[in-house]
Amino acid sequence: MSTVHISNHPLIRHKVTMMRDFKTEPKKFRELIREVALLLAYEATADLALQDKVVTTPLAQTRGAELKEVVGLVPVLRAGLGMVEGFWEMMPAAEVWHIGLYRDHKTLEPIQYYNRLPVAPTVDVCIILDPMLATGGSATATAQILKDWGAKKIKYVGIIAAPEGIKRLQTAHPDVEIYLAAIDDHLNENAYIVPGLGDAGDRQFGTG
Ligand code: PRP
Ligand code: URA
Repeated sequence: MSTVHISNHPLIRHKVTMMRDFKTEPKKFRELIREVALLLAYEATADLALQDKVVTTPLAQTRGAELKEVVGLVPVLRAGLGMVEGFWEMMPAAEVWHIGLYRDHKTLEPIQYYNRLPVAPTVDVCIILDPMLATGGSATATAQILKDWGAKKIKYVGIIAAPEGIKRLQTAHPDVEIYLAAIDDHLNENAYIVPGLGDAGDRQFGTG
Protein backbone atom coordinates (compact mmCIF):
# COMPACT_ATOMS: atom_id res chain seq x y z
CA MET A 1 0.00 0.00 0.00
CA SER A 2 1.29 3.48 -0.82
CA THR A 3 2.43 5.82 1.91
CA VAL A 4 0.28 8.83 2.74
CA HIS A 5 2.47 11.81 3.62
CA ILE A 6 0.67 14.46 5.64
CA SER A 7 2.56 17.71 6.14
CA ASN A 8 2.53 19.14 9.62
CA HIS A 9 4.51 22.17 8.55
CA PRO A 10 3.25 25.23 10.45
CA LEU A 11 3.15 27.40 7.30
CA ILE A 12 1.02 24.84 5.49
CA ARG A 13 -1.36 24.49 8.44
CA HIS A 14 -1.65 28.27 8.74
CA LYS A 15 -2.34 28.76 5.03
CA VAL A 16 -4.80 25.87 4.73
CA THR A 17 -6.78 27.34 7.62
CA MET A 18 -7.01 30.62 5.66
CA MET A 19 -8.13 28.70 2.57
CA ARG A 20 -10.91 27.01 4.53
CA ASP A 21 -12.34 30.36 5.73
CA PHE A 22 -15.45 31.13 3.65
CA LYS A 23 -14.59 34.83 3.86
CA THR A 24 -11.35 34.34 1.86
CA GLU A 25 -11.87 35.96 -1.55
CA PRO A 26 -10.83 34.27 -4.85
CA LYS A 27 -7.69 36.46 -5.26
CA LYS A 28 -6.40 35.53 -1.81
CA PHE A 29 -7.52 31.92 -2.30
CA ARG A 30 -5.45 31.69 -5.51
CA GLU A 31 -2.39 33.10 -3.73
CA LEU A 32 -2.79 30.58 -0.93
CA ILE A 33 -3.23 27.57 -3.23
CA ARG A 34 -0.03 28.58 -5.07
CA GLU A 35 1.89 28.95 -1.80
CA VAL A 36 0.63 25.69 -0.28
CA ALA A 37 1.49 23.89 -3.53
CA LEU A 38 5.02 25.33 -3.41
CA LEU A 39 5.48 24.05 0.14
CA LEU A 40 4.06 20.63 -0.75
CA ALA A 41 6.39 20.51 -3.76
CA TYR A 42 9.31 20.53 -1.35
CA GLU A 43 7.92 17.45 0.42
CA ALA A 44 6.77 15.55 -2.68
CA THR A 45 10.12 15.85 -4.46
CA ALA A 46 12.37 14.74 -1.59
CA ASP A 47 13.17 11.42 -3.29
CA LEU A 48 13.83 12.62 -6.85
CA ALA A 49 16.94 11.07 -8.35
CA LEU A 50 20.09 13.15 -8.88
CA GLN A 51 23.10 12.82 -11.12
CA ASP A 52 26.57 14.29 -10.68
CA LYS A 53 27.26 17.64 -12.27
CA VAL A 54 30.58 19.46 -12.34
CA VAL A 55 30.29 23.21 -11.87
CA THR A 56 32.88 25.99 -11.88
CA THR A 57 32.49 28.54 -9.12
CA PRO A 58 34.37 31.87 -9.24
CA LEU A 59 37.06 30.08 -7.19
CA ALA A 60 37.29 26.45 -8.29
CA GLN A 61 35.72 23.52 -10.04
CA THR A 62 33.55 21.32 -7.82
CA ARG A 63 31.21 18.36 -8.06
CA GLY A 64 27.54 19.13 -7.52
CA ALA A 65 24.25 17.52 -8.56
CA GLU A 66 21.34 18.08 -10.89
CA LEU A 67 17.93 16.46 -11.24
CA LYS A 68 18.20 13.26 -13.27
CA GLU A 69 14.51 12.63 -13.94
CA VAL A 70 12.21 14.64 -16.16
CA VAL A 71 9.17 15.66 -14.11
CA GLY A 72 5.69 16.04 -15.59
CA LEU A 73 3.14 18.08 -13.66
CA VAL A 74 -0.40 16.88 -14.35
CA PRO A 75 -2.99 19.38 -13.09
CA VAL A 76 -6.57 18.09 -13.10
CA LEU A 77 -8.81 20.84 -14.50
CA ARG A 78 -10.08 23.00 -13.21
CA ALA A 79 -8.99 23.12 -9.59
CA GLY A 80 -5.54 21.60 -10.09
CA LEU A 81 -4.51 24.56 -12.28
CA GLY A 82 -3.90 26.73 -9.23
CA MET A 83 -1.23 24.35 -7.95
CA VAL A 84 0.94 24.48 -11.08
CA GLU A 85 2.68 27.82 -10.45
CA GLY A 86 3.95 26.82 -7.01
CA PHE A 87 5.49 23.62 -8.36
CA TRP A 88 6.85 25.37 -11.44
CA GLU A 89 8.67 27.94 -9.34
CA MET A 90 10.62 25.06 -7.80
CA MET A 91 11.00 23.09 -11.05
CA PRO A 92 10.91 25.45 -14.03
CA ALA A 93 11.99 22.65 -16.38
CA ALA A 94 8.96 20.48 -15.54
CA GLU A 95 6.58 19.70 -18.39
CA VAL A 96 2.88 20.40 -17.76
CA TRP A 97 0.25 18.05 -19.16
CA HIS A 98 -3.40 18.95 -18.49
CA ILE A 99 -6.19 16.45 -17.86
CA GLY A 100 -9.79 17.73 -17.77
CA LEU A 101 -12.29 15.88 -15.57
CA TYR A 102 -15.51 16.83 -13.87
CA ARG A 103 -17.68 14.85 -11.48
CA ASP A 104 -21.06 13.80 -12.82
CA HIS A 105 -23.59 15.30 -10.40
CA LYS A 106 -25.68 12.12 -10.18
CA THR A 107 -23.17 9.27 -10.29
CA LEU A 108 -20.22 11.31 -8.88
CA GLU A 109 -18.01 9.42 -11.34
CA PRO A 110 -15.40 11.46 -13.25
CA ILE A 111 -16.10 12.40 -16.87
CA GLN A 112 -13.05 13.15 -19.00
CA TYR A 113 -13.33 16.17 -21.33
CA TYR A 114 -9.69 17.06 -22.03
CA ASN A 115 -6.51 15.09 -22.64
CA ARG A 116 -3.68 16.23 -24.92
CA LEU A 117 -1.04 13.78 -23.74
CA PRO A 118 1.40 12.98 -26.54
CA VAL A 119 1.50 9.45 -27.94
CA ALA A 120 4.42 8.26 -25.79
CA PRO A 121 5.49 9.40 -22.32
CA THR A 122 8.04 12.21 -22.33
CA VAL A 123 8.64 12.28 -18.57
CA ASP A 124 10.07 9.97 -15.90
CA VAL A 125 7.88 11.06 -12.97
CA CYS A 126 4.29 12.30 -13.15
CA ILE A 127 2.95 14.44 -10.30
CA ILE A 128 -0.84 14.69 -10.32
CA LEU A 129 -2.02 18.03 -8.91
CA ASP A 130 -5.58 18.36 -7.60
CA PRO A 131 -6.41 20.09 -4.29
CA MET A 132 -9.40 17.90 -3.36
CA LEU A 133 -9.44 14.10 -2.93
CA ALA A 134 -13.10 13.46 -2.13
CA THR A 135 -14.52 10.10 -3.34
CA GLY A 136 -11.18 9.52 -5.06
CA GLY A 137 -12.83 8.94 -8.43
CA SER A 138 -10.99 11.76 -10.23
CA ALA A 139 -7.56 10.89 -8.80
CA THR A 140 -8.00 7.18 -9.51
CA ALA A 141 -9.09 7.89 -13.10
CA THR A 142 -6.17 10.29 -13.66
CA ALA A 143 -3.64 7.75 -12.40
CA GLN A 144 -5.18 5.17 -14.75
CA ILE A 145 -5.00 7.58 -17.72
CA LEU A 146 -1.31 8.13 -16.96
CA LYS A 147 -0.61 4.40 -16.60
CA ASP A 148 -2.40 3.67 -19.89
CA TRP A 149 -0.15 6.36 -21.42
CA GLY A 150 2.88 4.43 -20.12
CA ALA A 151 3.82 6.45 -17.02
CA LYS A 152 5.95 4.35 -14.68
CA LYS A 153 6.26 6.55 -11.59
CA ILE A 154 3.26 8.56 -10.39
CA LYS A 155 2.73 10.72 -7.31
CA TYR A 156 -0.47 12.43 -6.20
CA VAL A 157 -0.32 15.83 -4.48
CA GLY A 158 -3.51 17.20 -2.98
CA ILE A 159 -4.38 19.67 -0.25
CA ILE A 160 -7.39 18.20 1.57
CA ALA A 161 -8.57 14.58 1.44
CA ALA A 162 -11.43 12.55 2.83
CA PRO A 163 -10.57 9.09 4.22
CA GLU A 164 -12.85 7.57 1.56
CA GLY A 165 -10.80 9.12 -1.27
CA ILE A 166 -7.48 8.00 0.16
CA LYS A 167 -8.77 4.44 0.49
CA ARG A 168 -10.07 4.35 -3.09
CA LEU A 169 -6.86 5.74 -4.58
CA GLN A 170 -4.66 3.42 -2.49
CA THR A 171 -6.75 0.37 -3.38
CA ALA A 172 -6.76 1.07 -7.13
CA HIS A 173 -3.16 2.31 -7.32
CA PRO A 174 -1.10 1.03 -4.37
CA ASP A 175 2.07 2.25 -6.08
CA VAL A 176 1.02 5.93 -6.15
CA GLU A 177 2.49 7.89 -3.21
CA ILE A 178 0.06 10.44 -1.77
CA TYR A 179 1.09 13.87 -0.41
CA LEU A 180 -1.47 15.99 1.44
CA ALA A 181 -1.83 18.99 3.72
CA ALA A 182 -4.77 17.58 5.69
CA ILE A 183 -7.10 14.60 6.10
CA ASP A 184 -10.61 15.72 6.99
CA ASP A 185 -13.46 13.98 8.72
CA HIS A 186 -15.93 12.70 6.15
CA LEU A 187 -17.90 13.30 2.93
CA ASN A 188 -21.39 14.80 3.12
CA GLU A 189 -24.43 13.55 1.17
CA ASN A 190 -23.21 15.46 -1.93
CA ALA A 191 -19.70 13.99 -1.63
CA TYR A 192 -18.18 17.28 -0.45
CA ILE A 193 -15.37 17.06 2.08
CA VAL A 194 -16.37 18.14 5.62
CA PRO A 195 -15.13 20.49 6.99
CA GLY A 196 -13.16 20.95 3.74
CA LEU A 197 -13.09 24.30 1.99
CA GLY A 198 -16.07 24.03 -0.35
CA ASP A 199 -15.63 23.79 -4.12
CA ALA A 200 -11.95 24.41 -4.87
CA GLY A 201 -12.65 25.27 -8.53
CA ASP A 202 -15.40 27.76 -7.73
CA ARG A 203 -13.37 29.38 -4.99
CA GLN A 204 -10.40 30.01 -7.31
CA PHE A 205 -12.33 31.14 -10.33
CA GLY A 206 -15.17 33.02 -8.61
CA THR A 207 -17.83 30.80 -10.15
CA GLY A 208 -19.66 29.63 -7.03
C1 PRP B 1 -13.18 18.58 -7.93
C2 PRP B 1 -11.73 18.43 -7.53
C3 PRP B 1 -11.41 17.04 -7.98
C4 PRP B 1 -12.71 16.31 -7.73
C5 PRP B 1 -12.58 15.53 -6.47
O1 PRP B 1 -13.31 18.82 -9.27
O2 PRP B 1 -10.90 19.39 -8.09
O3 PRP B 1 -11.01 16.94 -9.32
O4 PRP B 1 -13.72 17.31 -7.56
O5 PRP B 1 -13.69 14.74 -6.26
P1 PRP B 1 -13.63 13.16 -6.32
O6 PRP B 1 -12.48 12.76 -5.48
O7 PRP B 1 -14.96 12.76 -5.73
O8 PRP B 1 -13.50 12.73 -7.75
P2 PRP B 1 -14.76 19.11 -9.92
O9 PRP B 1 -15.34 17.84 -10.45
O10 PRP B 1 -15.61 19.87 -8.95
O11 PRP B 1 -14.41 19.98 -11.18
P3 PRP B 1 -13.82 21.47 -11.25
O12 PRP B 1 -12.42 21.41 -10.70
O13 PRP B 1 -13.84 21.76 -12.70
O14 PRP B 1 -14.70 22.39 -10.45
N1 URA C 1 -14.53 18.87 -4.99
C1 URA C 1 -14.32 20.03 -4.31
O1 URA C 1 -13.90 21.04 -4.90
N2 URA C 1 -14.58 20.05 -3.00
C2 URA C 1 -15.03 18.97 -2.33
O2 URA C 1 -15.24 19.06 -1.11
C3 URA C 1 -15.24 17.78 -3.05
C4 URA C 1 -14.98 17.76 -4.38
